[in-house]
Amino acid sequence: MVKHTNEEFPLDFLWGGAVTATQTEGNWTLDGKGVTPPDLIAYEEGKVQNDLMSTSEIDLAIVDTVNYYPRRTAIDFYHTYPQDIALLKELGLNSFRTSVNWARIFPMGDEERPNEKGLAFYDDLINELIKNDIEPIITISHFEMPVHLSVKYKGWYSRKVIDFYLRYCEVLFTHFKGRVKYWVPFDEMNLIHRESFSQFGMPSDLVENSLENKLKALHHKMLASSLATKLAHEIDPSNQIAAMILSNYAYPASSSPEDIRAAQLNNQFENYYLDVLVRGKYPGTILRYIDENGFDIGFQIKDKEVFEKGQADFIGVSYYGNRTVSKKSIKNWPNPAINNPHIKKNAWDWLEDPIGLRYTLNKLYDQYQLPIFLMELGTGIHDKVEGGKIHDQDRIEFFKENLHQLKETIKDGVPVMGCLTWGPIDIVSNASAQMSKRYGFIYVDIDDSGKGTGKRLKKDSFYWLQEVIRGNGKAV
Ligand code: BG6
Repeated sequence: MVKHTNEEFPLDFLWGGAVTATQTEGNWTLDGKGVTPPDLIAYEEGKVQNDLMSTSEIDLAIVDTVNYYPRRTAIDFYHTYPQDIALLKELGLNSFRTSVNWARIFPMGDEERPNEKGLAFYDDLINELIKNDIEPIITISHFEMPVHLSVKYKGWYSRKVIDFYLRYCEVLFTHFKGRVKYWVPFDEMNLIHRESFSQFGMPSDLVENSLENKLKALHHKMLASSLATKLAHEIDPSNQIAAMILSNYAYPASSSPEDIRAAQLNNQFENYYLDVLVRGKYPGTILRYIDENGFDIGFQIKDKEVFEKGQADFIGVSYYGNRTVSKKSIKNWPNPAINNPHIKKNAWDWLEDPIGLRYTLNKLYDQYQLPIFLMELGTGIHDKVEGGKIHDQDRIEFFKENLHQLKETIKDGVPVMGCLTWGPIDIVSNASAQMSKRYGFIYVDIDDSGKGTGKRLKKDSFYWLQEVIRGNGKAV
Protein backbone atom coordinates (compact mmCIF):
# COMPACT_ATOMS: atom_id res chain seq x y z
CA MET A 1 0.00 0.00 0.00
CA VAL A 2 1.29 3.47 -0.87
CA LYS A 3 1.82 5.65 2.19
CA HIS A 4 0.84 9.26 1.80
CA THR A 5 1.87 10.67 5.17
CA ASN A 6 5.18 12.40 5.95
CA GLU A 7 6.65 10.67 8.98
CA GLU A 8 9.66 12.90 9.40
CA PHE A 9 10.80 16.46 9.41
CA PRO A 10 11.93 17.12 5.82
CA LEU A 11 15.64 16.68 5.16
CA ASP A 12 16.04 20.36 4.27
CA PHE A 13 14.20 21.49 7.40
CA LEU A 14 15.56 24.75 8.80
CA TRP A 15 16.39 24.15 12.47
CA GLY A 16 17.22 27.61 13.70
CA GLY A 17 17.10 30.37 16.22
CA ALA A 18 15.86 33.94 16.13
CA VAL A 19 16.88 37.17 17.85
CA THR A 20 16.89 40.87 17.06
CA ALA A 21 19.62 43.44 16.72
CA THR A 22 18.26 45.60 19.51
CA GLN A 23 17.98 42.78 22.06
CA THR A 24 21.50 41.45 21.43
CA GLU A 25 24.01 43.84 19.89
CA GLY A 26 24.37 46.62 22.50
CA ASN A 27 26.95 49.28 21.55
CA TRP A 28 24.10 51.64 20.84
CA THR A 29 26.19 54.55 19.55
CA LEU A 30 29.19 52.72 18.12
CA ASP A 31 30.32 53.17 14.50
CA GLY A 32 27.85 55.95 13.81
CA LYS A 33 24.65 54.15 14.83
CA GLY A 34 21.61 56.37 15.34
CA VAL A 35 19.11 56.08 18.21
CA THR A 36 16.05 53.81 17.97
CA PRO A 37 13.00 53.45 20.28
CA PRO A 38 14.31 50.28 22.01
CA ASP A 39 17.42 52.22 23.12
CA LEU A 40 15.09 54.40 25.19
CA ILE A 41 13.47 51.67 27.30
CA ALA A 42 14.75 51.80 30.87
CA TYR A 43 14.58 48.74 33.10
CA GLU A 44 12.16 49.06 36.01
CA GLU A 45 11.65 46.05 38.24
CA GLY A 46 8.28 44.39 37.79
CA LYS A 47 7.18 46.68 35.03
CA VAL A 48 6.08 45.91 31.52
CA GLN A 49 7.61 48.59 29.34
CA ASN A 50 5.61 51.71 28.66
CA ASP A 51 5.22 51.87 24.92
CA LEU A 52 4.11 55.51 24.86
CA MET A 53 6.67 58.31 24.64
CA SER A 54 6.43 62.00 23.85
CA THR A 55 9.14 63.97 22.05
CA SER A 56 10.30 65.56 25.32
CA GLU A 57 10.52 62.13 26.99
CA ILE A 58 12.56 60.91 24.02
CA ASP A 59 14.96 63.87 24.38
CA LEU A 60 15.34 63.24 28.11
CA ALA A 61 15.92 59.49 27.72
CA ILE A 62 18.65 60.03 25.11
CA VAL A 63 20.79 62.01 27.56
CA ASP A 64 19.75 60.17 30.75
CA THR A 65 22.72 58.64 32.54
CA VAL A 66 20.90 57.72 35.78
CA ASN A 67 18.59 54.89 34.70
CA TYR A 68 19.69 51.60 33.20
CA TYR A 69 18.74 50.96 29.56
CA PRO A 70 19.42 47.25 28.89
CA ARG A 71 19.30 47.43 25.09
CA ARG A 72 22.19 49.89 25.04
CA THR A 73 24.57 47.16 26.13
CA ALA A 74 22.46 43.96 25.76
CA ILE A 75 24.71 40.87 25.44
CA ASP A 76 27.40 42.69 23.40
CA PHE A 77 26.68 40.50 20.37
CA TYR A 78 28.21 43.30 18.27
CA HIS A 79 31.57 41.98 19.49
CA THR A 80 30.82 38.42 20.62
CA TYR A 81 29.06 37.19 17.48
CA PRO A 82 31.94 34.94 16.27
CA GLN A 83 32.01 32.97 19.55
CA ASP A 84 28.20 32.97 19.80
CA ILE A 85 27.81 31.70 16.25
CA ALA A 86 30.32 28.95 17.00
CA LEU A 87 28.10 27.86 19.92
CA LEU A 88 24.96 27.97 17.75
CA LYS A 89 26.75 25.86 15.18
CA GLU A 90 27.73 23.38 17.91
CA LEU A 91 24.06 23.30 18.95
CA GLY A 92 23.34 22.12 15.43
CA LEU A 93 21.45 25.12 14.05
CA ASN A 94 21.48 25.46 10.27
CA SER A 95 19.68 28.81 10.18
CA PHE A 96 19.62 32.02 12.20
CA ARG A 97 17.28 34.96 12.07
CA THR A 98 18.37 38.37 13.27
CA SER A 99 17.42 41.89 12.31
CA VAL A 100 19.50 44.59 10.76
CA ASN A 101 19.26 47.69 12.91
CA TRP A 102 17.94 50.35 10.52
CA ALA A 103 19.81 53.07 12.45
CA ARG A 104 23.16 51.38 11.88
CA ILE A 105 22.61 51.67 8.14
CA PHE A 106 20.79 55.03 8.08
CA PRO A 107 21.47 56.65 11.49
CA MET A 108 18.89 59.41 10.96
CA GLY A 109 16.78 57.54 8.41
CA ASP A 110 16.49 60.33 5.84
CA GLU A 111 20.10 60.46 4.60
CA GLU A 112 20.90 59.88 0.93
CA ARG A 113 23.76 57.47 1.57
CA PRO A 114 24.19 54.56 3.97
CA ASN A 115 26.67 54.39 6.85
CA GLU A 116 29.48 52.17 5.55
CA LYS A 117 30.54 51.09 9.04
CA GLY A 118 27.06 49.75 9.72
CA LEU A 119 27.10 47.76 6.49
CA ALA A 120 30.56 46.45 7.32
CA PHE A 121 29.31 45.03 10.63
CA TYR A 122 26.49 43.12 8.93
CA ASP A 123 28.90 41.99 6.21
CA ASP A 124 31.06 40.36 8.84
CA LEU A 125 28.11 38.88 10.72
CA ILE A 126 26.45 37.42 7.63
CA ASN A 127 29.75 36.10 6.27
CA GLU A 128 30.40 34.43 9.61
CA LEU A 129 27.00 32.70 9.46
CA ILE A 130 27.58 31.53 5.90
CA LYS A 131 31.07 30.30 6.78
CA ASN A 132 29.42 28.14 9.45
CA ASP A 133 26.79 26.78 7.02
CA ILE A 134 24.08 28.71 8.82
CA GLU A 135 21.42 30.21 6.54
CA PRO A 136 20.91 33.90 7.41
CA ILE A 137 17.30 35.06 7.68
CA ILE A 138 17.03 38.83 7.94
CA THR A 139 14.29 40.92 9.51
CA ILE A 140 14.45 44.40 8.03
CA SER A 141 12.64 46.19 10.84
CA HIS A 142 11.94 44.55 14.18
CA PHE A 143 10.20 47.09 16.43
CA GLU A 144 12.70 49.75 15.46
CA MET A 145 13.35 52.75 13.21
CA PRO A 146 15.75 55.69 13.51
CA VAL A 147 14.15 57.87 16.19
CA HIS A 148 14.78 60.94 14.03
CA LEU A 149 12.07 59.61 11.70
CA SER A 150 9.71 59.50 14.68
CA VAL A 151 10.40 63.02 15.83
CA LYS A 152 10.64 64.72 12.45
CA TYR A 153 8.07 62.77 10.42
CA LYS A 154 5.80 61.17 13.12
CA GLY A 155 7.00 57.64 12.28
CA TRP A 156 4.70 55.39 10.27
CA TYR A 157 1.92 57.96 10.49
CA SER A 158 3.66 59.61 7.55
CA ARG A 159 3.61 58.21 4.01
CA LYS A 160 7.02 59.80 3.49
CA VAL A 161 8.60 57.15 5.75
CA ILE A 162 7.74 54.52 3.13
CA ASP A 163 10.33 56.13 0.80
CA PHE A 164 13.02 56.11 3.48
CA TYR A 165 12.25 52.48 4.30
CA LEU A 166 12.49 51.51 0.62
CA ARG A 167 15.82 53.26 0.25
CA TYR A 168 17.05 51.22 3.21
CA CYS A 169 15.63 48.00 1.70
CA GLU A 170 17.27 48.69 -1.64
CA VAL A 171 20.66 49.04 0.06
CA LEU A 172 20.16 45.72 1.86
CA PHE A 173 18.81 43.77 -1.14
CA THR A 174 21.63 45.02 -3.36
CA HIS A 175 24.44 44.74 -0.86
CA PHE A 176 23.53 41.24 0.38
CA LYS A 177 22.41 39.86 -2.98
CA GLY A 178 23.41 36.20 -3.28
CA ARG A 179 24.15 35.97 0.44
CA VAL A 180 20.71 36.50 1.98
CA LYS A 181 17.68 34.84 0.43
CA TYR A 182 15.04 34.93 3.22
CA TRP A 183 13.79 38.38 4.23
CA VAL A 184 11.15 39.49 6.71
CA PRO A 185 10.11 43.09 5.92
CA PHE A 186 8.59 43.63 9.39
CA ASP A 187 8.32 41.57 12.52
CA GLU A 188 4.77 40.80 13.67
CA MET A 189 2.77 43.16 11.54
CA ASN A 190 -0.39 42.52 13.55
CA LEU A 191 0.72 43.82 16.96
CA ILE A 192 -1.62 46.77 16.82
CA HIS A 193 -2.68 46.32 20.43
CA ARG A 194 0.80 47.63 21.30
CA GLU A 195 1.06 51.34 21.90
CA SER A 196 1.93 53.62 19.07
CA PHE A 197 5.54 54.56 19.83
CA SER A 198 7.11 51.10 19.95
CA GLN A 199 5.08 49.61 17.16
CA PHE A 200 4.83 52.57 14.81
CA GLY A 201 7.41 55.12 16.03
CA MET A 202 4.71 57.74 16.66
CA PRO A 203 5.50 60.08 19.60
CA SER A 204 2.40 60.52 21.78
CA ASP A 205 2.40 64.34 21.66
CA LEU A 206 2.52 64.36 17.85
CA VAL A 207 0.01 61.59 17.11
CA GLU A 208 -2.76 60.54 19.46
CA ASN A 209 -2.50 56.87 20.46
CA SER A 210 -5.86 55.94 18.92
CA LEU A 211 -6.84 52.83 17.00
CA GLU A 212 -7.67 54.97 13.97
CA ASN A 213 -4.15 56.42 13.91
CA LYS A 214 -2.58 53.00 14.42
CA LEU A 215 -4.60 51.56 11.54
CA LYS A 216 -3.40 54.40 9.33
CA ALA A 217 0.22 53.73 10.34
CA LEU A 218 -0.34 50.03 9.71
CA HIS A 219 -1.71 50.81 6.25
CA HIS A 220 1.54 52.65 5.47
CA LYS A 221 3.60 49.78 6.87
CA MET A 222 1.72 47.26 4.72
CA LEU A 223 2.30 49.44 1.64
CA ALA A 224 5.99 49.52 2.55
CA SER A 225 6.01 45.75 2.97
CA SER A 226 4.35 45.12 -0.42
CA LEU A 227 6.65 47.58 -2.19
CA ALA A 228 9.69 46.00 -0.52
CA THR A 229 8.50 42.55 -1.63
CA LYS A 230 8.21 43.70 -5.24
CA LEU A 231 11.62 45.38 -5.07
CA ALA A 232 13.26 42.28 -3.58
CA HIS A 233 11.90 40.15 -6.41
CA GLU A 234 13.13 42.66 -9.03
CA ILE A 235 16.64 42.79 -7.56
CA ASP A 236 16.90 39.02 -7.21
CA PRO A 237 14.06 36.71 -8.31
CA SER A 238 15.34 34.03 -5.96
CA ASN A 239 14.58 36.20 -2.91
CA GLN A 240 11.94 34.70 -0.62
CA ILE A 241 9.88 37.27 1.24
CA ALA A 242 7.74 36.66 4.31
CA ALA A 243 4.46 38.10 5.46
CA MET A 244 4.92 37.73 9.19
CA ILE A 245 2.45 37.83 12.06
CA LEU A 246 2.18 36.81 15.68
CA SER A 247 -0.38 34.04 16.09
CA ASN A 248 -3.39 35.75 17.66
CA TYR A 249 -6.06 33.26 16.67
CA ALA A 250 -8.92 32.68 19.06
CA TYR A 251 -10.68 29.81 20.75
CA PRO A 252 -14.33 30.52 21.59
CA ALA A 253 -14.95 30.93 25.34
CA SER A 254 -17.84 28.42 25.11
CA SER A 255 -19.82 26.40 22.61
CA SER A 256 -22.46 29.14 22.34
CA PRO A 257 -22.93 30.34 18.75
CA GLU A 258 -22.27 33.93 19.94
CA ASP A 259 -18.86 33.02 21.35
CA ILE A 260 -18.05 30.94 18.27
CA ARG A 261 -18.94 33.88 16.03
CA ALA A 262 -16.80 36.16 18.26
CA ALA A 263 -13.82 33.84 17.79
CA GLN A 264 -14.44 33.78 14.05
CA LEU A 265 -14.53 37.57 13.91
CA ASN A 266 -11.28 37.79 15.87
CA ASN A 267 -9.73 35.39 13.37
CA GLN A 268 -11.00 37.37 10.41
CA PHE A 269 -9.56 40.56 11.90
CA GLU A 270 -6.28 38.83 12.70
CA ASN A 271 -6.08 37.54 9.14
CA TYR A 272 -6.39 40.91 7.59
CA TYR A 273 -2.63 41.59 7.46
CA LEU A 274 -2.13 38.30 5.63
CA ASP A 275 -5.11 38.93 3.35
CA VAL A 276 -3.43 42.16 2.29
CA LEU A 277 0.14 40.86 2.05
CA VAL A 278 -0.61 37.41 0.62
CA ARG A 279 -3.86 37.86 -1.30
CA GLY A 280 -3.35 41.49 -2.18
CA LYS A 281 -6.50 43.04 -0.72
CA TYR A 282 -8.27 44.18 2.41
CA PRO A 283 -10.98 41.71 3.50
CA GLY A 284 -14.63 42.81 3.86
CA THR A 285 -14.73 42.33 7.64
CA ILE A 286 -12.08 44.96 8.36
CA LEU A 287 -13.39 47.37 5.72
CA ARG A 288 -16.79 47.19 7.39
CA TYR A 289 -15.18 47.78 10.81
CA ILE A 290 -13.27 50.80 9.50
CA ASP A 291 -16.41 52.27 7.90
CA GLU A 292 -18.68 51.64 10.88
CA ASN A 293 -16.20 53.36 13.16
CA GLY A 294 -15.87 56.29 10.78
CA PHE A 295 -12.07 55.83 10.54
CA ASP A 296 -9.96 57.48 7.87
CA ILE A 297 -6.89 55.31 7.34
CA GLY A 298 -5.59 57.31 4.38
CA PHE A 299 -6.34 54.58 1.81
CA GLN A 300 -5.71 55.96 -1.69
CA ILE A 301 -7.05 54.36 -4.89
CA LYS A 302 -3.51 53.71 -6.19
CA ASP A 303 -2.74 51.63 -3.06
CA LYS A 304 -4.86 48.77 -4.41
CA GLU A 305 -2.37 48.10 -7.18
CA VAL A 306 0.55 48.17 -4.76
CA PHE A 307 -1.01 45.36 -2.74
CA GLU A 308 -1.86 43.36 -5.86
CA LYS A 309 1.72 43.53 -7.13
CA GLY A 310 3.72 42.81 -3.99
CA GLN A 311 2.63 39.47 -2.64
CA ALA A 312 4.70 37.50 -0.17
CA ASP A 313 6.26 34.10 -0.91
CA PHE A 314 5.63 32.46 2.44
CA ILE A 315 3.97 33.04 5.78
CA GLY A 316 6.13 33.69 8.82
CA VAL A 317 4.53 33.19 12.21
CA SER A 318 5.68 33.59 15.77
CA TYR A 319 3.87 31.49 18.33
CA TYR A 320 3.33 32.20 22.03
CA GLY A 321 -0.15 30.67 22.38
CA ASN A 322 -3.53 31.78 21.10
CA ARG A 323 -6.36 33.88 22.48
CA THR A 324 -9.69 32.94 23.96
CA VAL A 325 -12.53 35.36 23.25
CA SER A 326 -16.21 35.73 24.07
CA LYS A 327 -19.17 37.58 22.64
CA LYS A 328 -18.49 40.33 25.20
CA SER A 329 -14.69 40.52 24.95
CA ILE A 330 -14.55 40.75 21.16
CA LYS A 331 -15.81 44.31 21.55
CA ASN A 332 -12.34 45.12 22.93
CA TRP A 333 -10.52 44.02 19.76
CA PRO A 334 -7.57 44.39 19.21
CA ASN A 335 -7.37 43.45 22.92
CA PRO A 336 -10.09 40.81 23.31
CA ALA A 337 -8.28 37.99 25.17
CA ILE A 338 -9.83 36.47 28.28
CA ASN A 339 -8.52 33.78 30.62
CA ASN A 340 -8.67 30.15 29.50
CA PRO A 341 -8.42 27.73 32.45
CA HIS A 342 -7.36 24.86 30.16
CA ILE A 343 -4.13 26.53 29.11
CA LYS A 344 -0.90 26.51 31.11
CA LYS A 345 0.91 29.79 31.78
CA ASN A 346 4.54 30.61 32.51
CA ALA A 347 5.81 32.88 35.30
CA TRP A 348 4.98 35.96 33.21
CA ASP A 349 1.45 34.69 32.45
CA TRP A 350 2.37 33.91 28.85
CA LEU A 351 0.58 30.88 27.46
CA GLU A 352 2.07 27.44 26.84
CA ASP A 353 -0.23 25.59 24.43
CA PRO A 354 1.45 23.02 22.17
CA ILE A 355 -1.82 21.84 20.61
CA GLY A 356 -2.55 25.45 19.72
CA LEU A 357 0.62 25.41 17.64
CA ARG A 358 -0.76 22.58 15.51
CA TYR A 359 -4.11 24.38 15.32
CA THR A 360 -2.46 27.62 14.16
CA LEU A 361 -0.25 26.12 11.48
CA ASN A 362 -3.05 23.96 10.08
CA LYS A 363 -5.37 26.95 10.04
CA LEU A 364 -2.84 29.12 8.23
CA TYR A 365 -2.23 26.49 5.61
CA ASP A 366 -5.91 25.65 5.13
CA GLN A 367 -6.49 29.28 4.42
CA TYR A 368 -3.50 30.48 2.41
CA GLN A 369 -1.94 27.33 0.90
CA LEU A 370 1.53 28.82 1.20
CA PRO A 371 4.64 27.36 2.87
CA ILE A 372 4.81 28.32 6.53
CA PHE A 373 7.91 29.22 8.51
CA LEU A 374 7.62 29.05 12.29
CA MET A 375 9.82 32.04 13.05
CA GLU A 376 9.61 32.20 16.85
CA LEU A 377 8.89 29.48 19.39
CA GLY A 378 9.83 29.63 23.07
CA THR A 379 8.86 30.48 26.61
CA GLY A 380 10.48 32.65 29.28
CA ILE A 381 11.99 30.78 32.23
CA HIS A 382 13.87 31.81 35.42
CA ASP A 383 17.05 29.72 35.19
CA LYS A 384 19.25 28.85 38.16
CA VAL A 385 22.99 28.25 37.90
CA GLU A 386 24.03 25.44 40.23
CA GLY A 387 27.71 24.60 40.36
CA GLY A 388 28.22 25.96 36.86
CA LYS A 389 25.30 23.93 35.44
CA ILE A 390 21.74 24.85 34.46
CA HIS A 391 19.29 21.98 34.81
CA ASP A 392 16.44 23.42 32.73
CA GLN A 393 14.17 20.40 32.50
CA ASP A 394 11.12 22.68 32.10
CA ARG A 395 12.57 24.09 28.86
CA ILE A 396 13.25 20.57 27.60
CA GLU A 397 9.62 19.59 28.35
CA PHE A 398 8.32 22.72 26.63
CA PHE A 399 10.24 21.99 23.44
CA LYS A 400 9.55 18.26 23.53
CA GLU A 401 5.80 18.90 23.52
CA ASN A 402 5.87 21.71 20.98
CA LEU A 403 8.22 19.98 18.55
CA HIS A 404 6.09 16.86 18.80
CA GLN A 405 3.04 18.90 17.79
CA LEU A 406 5.08 20.46 15.01
CA LYS A 407 5.91 17.00 13.71
CA GLU A 408 2.22 16.08 13.86
CA THR A 409 1.50 19.23 11.84
CA ILE A 410 3.96 18.14 9.18
CA LYS A 411 2.24 14.75 9.13
CA ASP A 412 -1.06 16.61 8.63
CA GLY A 413 0.45 17.75 5.32
CA VAL A 414 1.36 21.32 6.24
CA PRO A 415 4.57 22.41 4.45
CA VAL A 416 6.58 23.79 7.36
CA MET A 417 9.88 25.25 6.12
CA GLY A 418 11.57 25.44 9.49
CA CYS A 419 11.40 26.22 13.17
CA LEU A 420 13.33 29.07 14.77
CA THR A 421 13.46 28.91 18.54
CA TRP A 422 13.14 32.33 20.10
CA GLY A 423 16.35 33.56 21.74
CA PRO A 424 18.53 30.41 21.46
CA ILE A 425 21.02 32.42 23.50
CA ASP A 426 19.70 34.53 26.41
CA ILE A 427 18.86 38.09 25.37
CA VAL A 428 17.10 41.15 26.81
CA SER A 429 13.35 40.64 27.06
CA ASN A 430 11.28 42.85 24.86
CA ALA A 431 8.27 43.34 27.11
CA SER A 432 9.91 43.50 30.53
CA ALA A 433 13.47 44.59 29.62
CA GLN A 434 14.73 41.80 31.91
CA MET A 435 17.66 39.48 31.35
CA SER A 436 16.14 37.04 33.83
CA LYS A 437 13.26 36.20 31.46
CA ARG A 438 15.41 33.67 29.67
CA TYR A 439 14.67 31.72 26.49
CA GLY A 440 18.09 30.36 25.60
CA PHE A 441 19.83 27.02 25.39
CA ILE A 442 22.93 29.09 26.08
CA TYR A 443 23.02 31.03 29.35
CA VAL A 444 24.51 34.53 29.39
CA ASP A 445 25.83 35.69 32.75
CA ILE A 446 24.24 39.14 32.92
CA ASP A 447 21.51 40.09 35.40
CA ASP A 448 18.59 42.50 35.29
CA SER A 449 20.73 45.44 36.34
CA GLY A 450 23.35 44.69 33.68
CA LYS A 451 25.89 43.16 36.08
CA GLY A 452 27.72 39.92 35.33
CA THR A 453 30.68 38.52 33.47
CA GLY A 454 28.84 38.03 30.17
CA LYS A 455 30.16 34.47 30.16
CA ARG A 456 28.23 31.91 28.07
CA LEU A 457 27.24 28.51 29.60
CA LYS A 458 25.53 25.57 27.93
CA LYS A 459 22.29 24.58 29.67
CA ASP A 460 21.06 20.95 29.88
CA SER A 461 18.59 21.81 27.10
CA PHE A 462 21.55 22.60 24.81
CA TYR A 463 22.64 18.97 24.80
CA TRP A 464 19.04 17.78 24.50
CA LEU A 465 18.27 19.94 21.47
CA GLN A 466 21.60 19.03 19.90
CA GLU A 467 20.50 15.38 19.94
CA VAL A 468 17.06 16.20 18.55
CA ILE A 469 18.54 18.14 15.64
CA ARG A 470 21.20 15.48 15.03
CA GLY A 471 18.39 12.94 14.53
CA ASN A 472 16.36 15.46 12.45
CA GLY A 473 13.54 15.45 15.01
CA LYS A 474 13.17 11.65 15.42
CA ALA A 475 13.45 12.04 19.21
CA VAL A 476 10.29 14.12 19.49
C1 BG6 B 1 8.04 38.48 20.14
C2 BG6 B 1 9.01 39.51 19.64
O1 BG6 B 1 6.74 38.95 20.02
O2 BG6 B 1 8.17 38.10 21.46
C3 BG6 B 1 10.37 39.46 20.30
O3 BG6 B 1 9.16 39.37 18.25
C4 BG6 B 1 10.23 39.21 21.78
O4 BG6 B 1 11.09 40.63 20.02
C5 BG6 B 1 9.47 37.91 21.96
O5 BG6 B 1 11.44 39.19 22.49
C6 BG6 B 1 9.37 37.45 23.39
O6 BG6 B 1 8.91 38.49 24.18
P1 BG6 B 1 9.62 38.93 25.52
O7 BG6 B 1 8.89 40.13 25.95
O8 BG6 B 1 9.44 37.78 26.44
O9 BG6 B 1 11.03 39.19 25.18
